[in-house]
Order: sequence, then C-alpha cells, then structure tokens
Amino acid sequence: LIAQGAQPAFASSGRHGDHGDQGDHGEPGRPHYSAGSSGVGDPYFPDAGNGGYDVKHYDITFTYDPATKTMDATTKITAVATQGLNRFDLDFRGPEITSLTVDGHRSAFERSGQELVVTPRHDLGKGRHFTVVVKYKGTPPVVTDPDGSIEGWVPTDDGAFVPGEPQGSPAWFPGNDHPTDKATFTFHATVPEGVTAVGNGRLVSQKTKKGWTTFVWDAREPMATYLSTVTIGNFTVTKSKTPGGLPIYTAVDPRLVTQSAAAVAQIPDIVDYFSSIFGPYPFNTAGAIIDRAPDVGYALESQTKPIFSSAPGVGTMAHELAHQWFGDSVSLSRWSDIWLNEGFATYSQWMYTEHTGGATVDQTFNSTSNYGRAATSSFWQTVTTDPGPEDMFGNVPYNRGAMTLHALRGKIGDAAFFTLVKKWAAANRYGNTSTAEFIASAEKISGMDLTNFFDVWLFQKGKPTTW
Ligand code: ARG
Ligand code: ZN
Repeated sequence: LIAQGAQPAFASSGRHGDHGDQGDHGEPGRPHYSAGSSGVGDPYFPDAGNGGYDVKHYDITFTYDPATKTMDATTKITAVATQGLNRFDLDFRGPEITSLTVDGHRSAFERSGQELVVTPRHDLGKGRHFTVVVKYKGTPPVVTDPDGSIEGWVPTDDGAFVPGEPQGSPAWFPGNDHPTDKATFTFHATVPEGVTAVGNGRLVSQKTKKGWTTFVWDAREPMATYLSTVTIGNFTVTKSKTPGGLPIYTAVDPRLVTQSAAAVAQIPDIVDYFSSIFGPYPFNTAGAIIDRAPDVGYALESQTKPIFSSAPGVGTMAHELAHQWFGDSVSLSRWSDIWLNEGFATYSQWMYTEHTGGATVDQTFNSTSNYGRAATSSFWQTVTTDPGPEDMFGNVPYNRGAMTLHALRGKIGDAAFFTLVKKWAAANRYGNTSTAEFIASAEKISGMDLTNFFDVWLFQKGKPTTW
C-alpha cells in the first residue's frame, strides 16, 4: 500500500545520481523500464524505503534457535510495480542470502549498506503484480540508531527482543522500510519447544513437532514495517477479551509478571477510555509483550502488540496503546513529523492519568518538565517539527508535542478539539498524513485562523508566550 499524496511532500529522491522517474520520459507508445529509486526521499533517512513498487503482503517464515542465535528464513514479498522496472531495491541488513527469485526466476542481486539491489530476469511492466522470494541464513544484526539506542534483532537471555522504529525491520526481513508503504503480514516462526514467538495480529495456529513449535501470526490490517515484531522468549501467556469482545493476548516474562501486573490489568480500561475519545480501536486484536531486554531501555508501539523492554507502569502502557490510533493506524509520511506520533501518545497518557484520578492535564502541562520550564532552558531551542534524527525520541516531540495539543484544546475549546481528534483518527485510518494536513483540519473544524498558534508551537524556537 503506497500512501496517496505522500510523495509530493518529499524533496526529489533517487538512486544517487540516477533518478528512478526517468521512466516517464520514454518514447511515447513504447514501454520504458528503469531502476526504482533507492529511497523515498525522507530527509532523515535517505535510504529508507524504495521507489517503483508498492508492497501488498509480506509472508515471513523462519526458524530461530536462541542457543546459536541463528535464523534460517524465507521472506516472500507480493508487490505491484508502480513504474516499468528493470531493477529495484529492497532494504535489507540481514544475514547471507542463499537465493533470490522474482516470479520464480533466480535473479541477480547486489548488496551495499542497507540496499539490496535486485535485477529481475524479466522487466516488470507498470501495474504488474510480482513476487520476490528471498532465502537467508545467519545471525540478524542489532541496528544502532542516530540517538545511539539499539533496535532490529536484539538477542536476550532466552530469545530475541525485536523493535523496529525507525529503521530496525531490515535486520530480519527484506522490504520497503518506510511508513508510506504499509502492507499486511503473515509470520510463521519456529522456535524450540517451550519458547514462545509473539507476532503482530492474531495467533492462527501453534503446533509442536519433534521439539520445535511453529507459531503462525496474521496481521490483517495495513502495517508499517517499523511496527512489525516477532519477539521470542519464555513467556507467561494470557488470553482474554475486553467487555466489548476485542481479543487480548499478553506475553510476559515470568520474572516481570508481578511488577507489570498493574499495567497489564489496565489494558481493557485503557482501550475503552481511548475508544470513547478517539473512536473505535483500529485493529482486530490488542495485547502487550513484556520482556527483559535491559540494553534497549524503551518501549515501542508495535502494531497490536506493543513491546516493553522492562516492566511498564500504567502511564507507559497507556502511551503505547494510544499509539495504536496515533502512529500505527494514522501514520506519518516523513519522520520529521514524529511529534504527530509522540505528541498525541504523550497527551493521551496525560488524559488517562487525569481520567484515573491523578494529575489533571492542566497540572501536567504546567509542570516543571513541561510549560513550567524556564524560558532560558535549552528545551525551547528545538523546533517541534524538526527535531533531527538524533532527537526524534527526545523530550521535544513528546512533551512540546503534547503541550501543543493541550494549548490547541484551550484555544479552540473542548467541543472542537475532541471532534478534531475523532475525525483525524477516522479520516486517516490505516493511512499516512502530515503536520500540514493536521493544521488544515484544525482550522476547518474550529473555523479559526490558527497560523500564529501553530507558528509559535510547531515552527519556531523559543517558549511560546501568547497564542
Ligand atoms: N515510539 C517509541 C515510544 O515512544 C519509542 C521508540 C524509541 N526508539 C528508538 N530507536 N530510540 O513509545
Ligand atoms: Zn511514543
């Protein structure tokens, strides 16, 4: 699924010096084939994603042995060519490739950095559906981010912790690693008997044969690659349903069950509360994976199964569940708009705290970690809509992002604000959007000119004083 309207937002992108869009200038009447671009033009991650095709489905099958940290995998990608292609890239940082076919024909490929450059045996016409099958074997890598944190395939003492934001999924499967190309996913994960493999979506089967168990997970709603996970370990599994009938699957490291019990117990209440203010929960299942991955140190809103690298508190649980609406269902089109994910999730967390009798959103807004910071603090020197790849997950997209929403609520009033939030979730369900579209919706629904408001909160440095 390629986001409609996402491309024009980008600066021109391409295979360094060899633009994929040359295909459009071929002689009229003759099919023209060229290379798909090596990125989608996201300024924060120029190599992320690829041009020339749209992935529909990933079918990922692997056996993983935690004892040897070895994966033996086959990924089948079903895609549609969006231009005539004689070459295209996948993003892949994984182990050695043993074979690669396009529509059943062995095809030439080269690897350079995260780019896997594929030359299919036969050119692919625009609109053509095609299948790529990649087989690979070895140890998937840990990926280090611009902020120094780790993601990708992170081995733990009993399996692997698998977060993918913003660029970790190519560690374990080849794909189109940008949020603008969402797809459905099926995972077939085989692990030693007694170990559990937890993926996105619903568990469709679990079968043990000769000491190995295969878990099949099916994620039916469109998903960005960075939200994929198959996290592996010794887990205490609990299956339940919300009062509304939504299935909940939680997998908790037995060493963390007691410490995380309060947060896990709140899942149905959190989902219900957010559904009441944001509209229906966007997916057909919910849950959480609580693991011990001390070197990771953060949680991530993996779709339908947020992952926690240590026992979460209720606030963190609320934050990751709010992301299911904002981030997962409603996604950004370029990474610099990360405040749309983190500001909404943080503000949702503030609202849940108030809802459960804790600090009010006004109190949190005014606290010394938020608006109460001195005007001289360096906190105010980062522009909300351009934190840079190093500070995407820093304080500003989270806290100044949440403050922006609370200030907006004060400016346009509760009625317009909650209409806006519900409409935003509904209109962009499973899609991709941008700050510009958010501003346009806010102005339309409130009937107000919010130019100065958004200017001081989102586009200028400095502590806003009047808005
Ligand atoms: N989106 C996650 C959260 O706020 C944080 C991800 C941090 N990732 C990273 N590579 N530092 O819930
Ligand atoms: Zn977040």
